[in-house]
Amino acid sequence: MKHAILAAALILAAASTTQAADPANGKMIYDMNCVVCHGVGGHPVLPAAPSFAKGERLMQPDTMLIESIENGKNVMPAFLGILRRQEIRDVIAYLRTLHR
Ligand code: HEC
Repeated sequence: MKHAILAAALILAAASTTQAADPANGKMIYDMNCVVCHGVGGHPVLPAAPSFAKGERLMQPDTMLIESIENGKNVMPAFLGILRRQEIRDVIAYLRTLHR
């Protein structure tokens, strides 16, 4: 009985732990899906797009950035159903490396 409870606790712990965001994978996703507008290294190609190289819009918490990326914003297309939540977390981790 004690073992069963311990096993259940371990399974719950594993399920609730989100995988750490991977900026290297995020770069690959960015280069395929975002670079056309947001540009290489976050220097925007499209005038309306924020410059991630300047850290624009990145002062928002991840939850709000996820919301914008999943649902889109004006010209910014929605990526819900295109990118998985973990991929979006990876791409945000990459965006946060661009401002220096
Ligand atoms: C078709 C061009 C285009 C593509 C492709 C694109 N974006 Fe954007 N993105 C924009 C524009 C334009 C804005 C500014 C939207 C606004 O605030 O009006 C924007 C805004 C954003 C913002 C700021 C949102 C906010 O809440 O302020 C983030 C973050 C972002 N884009 C990330 C991404 C990521 C990540 C990808 C690739 C998965 C991507 N974008 C692909 C054009 C694009």
